[in-house]
Amino acid sequence: MRARKKLNIGLVGYGFMGRTHSNAFRKVNNFFDVAFEPVLKCVCARDGAKADAFAKQWGYESSETDWRRLIARKDIDLIDIASPNDTHADIAIAAAKAGKMILCEKPLARNAYQAEKMVSAVKKAGVANMVWYNYRRVPAVTLARQLIGEGRLGRIFHYRAKFLQDWTISKDLPQGGAGLWRLDVKVAGSGVTGDLLAHCIDTAMWLNGPIDKVTAMTETFIKQRKHTLTGKVQKVGIDDASAFLARFSNGSLATFESTRYARGHKALYTFEINGEHASIFWDLHDLHRLQYFDHRDEGKVRGWRSLHITDGDHPYMKNWWVPGLQIGYEHTFIHQVADFLEGLDTGKMPRPDFRDGLATDYVTDAVLASAKSGRWVTVKKPK
Ligand SMILES: NC(=O)c1ccc[n+]([C@@H]2O[C@H](COP(=O)([O-])OP(=O)(O)OC[C@H]3O[C@@H](n4cnc5c(N)ncnc54)[C@H](O)[C@@H]3O)[C@@H](O)[C@H]2O)c1
Repeated sequence: MRARKKLNIGLVGYGFMGRTHSNAFRKVNNFFDVAFEPVLKCVCARDGAKADAFAKQWGYESSETDWRRLIARKDIDLIDIASPNDTHADIAIAAAKAGKMILCEKPLARNAYQAEKMVSAVKKAGVANMVWYNYRRVPAVTLARQLIGEGRLGRIFHYRAKFLQDWTISKDLPQGGAGLWRLDVKVAGSGVTGDLLAHCIDTAMWLNGPIDKVTAMTETFIKQRKHTLTGKVQKVGIDDASAFLARFSNGSLATFESTRYARGHKALYTFEINGEHASIFWDLHDLHRLQYFDHRDEGKVRGWRSLHITDGDHPYMKNWWVPGLQIGYEHTFIHQVADFLEGLDTGKMPRPDFRDGLATDYVTDAVLASAKSGRWVTVKKPK
């Protein structure tokens, strides 16, 4: 085991992601031999009693109710942003100015304008930064990237991604406030485009390179909802569903679709890639499998193979149990922390960093602009 230096964590937000991140910080040293040890120093949320309760349950040493105070603390090395999208830019820019390392939830910001400022801030401060696009670190998805990198698929023709949910179909569901901030455009920035498609886009560009152009359609099926904070019925500004066509720089064509109105689907994230020699299919509901078809197999036995990604030579798996036994969702966050800590030691920082987060925000901005104009939109690329 390597000697470990302590890395003091200041977490902002104790919701869904606050829990996945805390779990990852707590477990990483049990499974990965890295040169840093995350110390759960402080959790920050606006409600002091709830922040205290979270600190007690998860083993944080202290709590704060204002992220500015958290950033001002000398005993914090890293700010982890797990609060809603409208908070990311202000917290990250202040944290960078204070010289803190930053892990930020996705989407990087409400829009690319804010994300550009965040990229400039971390660049100027020279602080380590990463965005929690955790699906890159599902072992099956990491393996897909390795197979593509080895040239097994040959020239890529098609990329097809979907992210389907069904939790906002009721017209009685309010918008805004705890748990429902995703329906409030002022907080979320957009609907499924920034929330769900952002994941699909990040994975897609990681596997298949940059996206050049998009043409999109979006729809808001329920136009008005009561706002939890004002009590008034207000216009809904988010997209409930979003679908777009894309052209990648490598010449391949893509379709992306997301909705929260697909009855029966909870988190059906799937992608398929079709190349000259081989195809790959992955499904979040069956995340430890990768479907692989190779046309070069002998004809008699050619067919889709369902690879069970649990062997020691599969990405990350040697750190877990024995071959045949699966891991799941929480582990993607542990992998991200492990890679980040390894990067701090080697000086070779892992991706996705803020610049990659900005690249995704450029695509989501282009999707929303195209849905508005009805035209193809060229996607900006980070400088
Ligand atoms: N990587 C992923 O797969 C993934 C999954 C879900 C959410 N997310 C992202 O994570 C972020 C948080 O989402 P969530 O689902 O955890 O939300 P959540 O509603 O479960 O939790 C948000 C937390 O932020 C706190 N908060 C809100 N405003 C704050 C402020 N000003 N200061 C301090 N704390 C504040 C809330 O009290 C709450 O604890 C969002 O950006 C979201 O897009 C990413």
